[in-house]
Amino acid sequence: GMAEKSGFDHFMLKEIHEQPETLRRCTAGRLTETDIELANFNLTAQDINSYNKIYIVACGTAYNSGLVGKYAIEKLAKIPVEIDVASEFRYRDPLVDESTLVIVVSQSGETADTLAALREAQDKGAKVVAICNVVGSTIAREADDVIYLQAGPEIAVASTKAYIGMLMSFYMLAIYFARAKKTLSDIDSKRLIDGLKALPNQVQDIINNSEEDIKELSKGYADHEHAFFIGRSIDYAVAVEGQLKLKEVSYLHSEAYPAGELKHGTLALIEEGIPVIALATQKSVIDKTLSNIKEVKARGGVVTGIIIEGEEEIEDLDYRIEIPKADELLTAILSVVPTQLLAYYVAVERGCDVDQPRNLAKSVTVE
Ligand code: G6P
Repeated sequence: GMAEKSGFDHFMLKEIHEQPETLRRCTAGRLTETDIELANFNLTAQDINSYNKIYIVACGTAYNSGLVGKYAIEKLAKIPVEIDVASEFRYRDPLVDESTLVIVVSQSGETADTLAALREAQDKGAKVVAICNVVGSTIAREADDVIYLQAGPEIAVASTKAYIGMLMSFYMLAIYFARAKKTLSDIDSKRLIDGLKALPNQVQDIINNSEEDIKELSKGYADHEHAFFIGRSIDYAVAVEGQLKLKEVSYLHSEAYPAGELKHGTLALIEEGIPVIALATQKSVIDKTLSNIKEVKARGGVVTGIIIEGEEEIEDLDYRIEIPKADELLTAILSVVPTQLLAYYVAVERGCDVDQPRNLAKSVTVE
């Protein structure tokens, strides 16, 4: 039958609220004390040790999940990762062979460019792992291995719960690879897996604690034409997804910049009143990000910080949205949630057709 909104005004909001459950379903049966179990996975430890490069290839939000995946895999499994949008990868004769693993990511499993990229990679002799939501989709069937998100149907054109499931899948895959490569100790693996297990409740806490504030905040965004997202490392990866979501559903022009790169161009666009969302959850680079926030403030930008709770030393913020403490590598699953809610409420405030944005389709099955 028809999918139901179960009391929510839009599927997008319903799917944002489903995310704690999405994470539980995605990890069900896959997390032990110190290891990741991937049922029916064909790649052997020997295969994983033989790869000298990984390519992540996808489109849209799935591509953005790969930006986080790259960090996680490089950090934990110490394999260099390149990432490409599928429509570029497929036409540029990529350097792929048997020593390369290709990971394709697709909610629908039917995106034409991603499917073509998968076939191109297999033609060149590479094994392909797919991270997919739709069971039995073409990409899932043609890949050598598949990790299903187990997120259930996603109806809103703008992807939210699938993105979070993709991030979780990348974290699990990164730990899985790292254990095969022996680059992650039992203790560190247990610590990360405990961190993964805590995420569903932490996402719930963010929704409970910040939704009303974000709804209020969104009113201040509705009359603007431009917004900027800044962050460093994983915060930058999440900023890219945040700007895409805002753009897709509210038609507000938004751009994401690595915070340290602002001064090389984009700072010229910061003037009195311009809204800037600063993701500042990464302890290792926090001082650097704070000095970028100061640069923005000095030019009149209005800064909303997405920060770790209890970070009192972060002044200079006009608005603050707090997320719970988590391992630096895992914060993406938390920090994205306020950006999704912001995109949703700005779109509602601007009277946009949230679940069916103009010119966009849920799944692009032709080129
Ligand atoms: C379309 C959708 C996006 C999605 C992208 C990739 O552009 O509007 O939300 O991220 O396709 O879709 P896929 O099904 O391959 O993840």
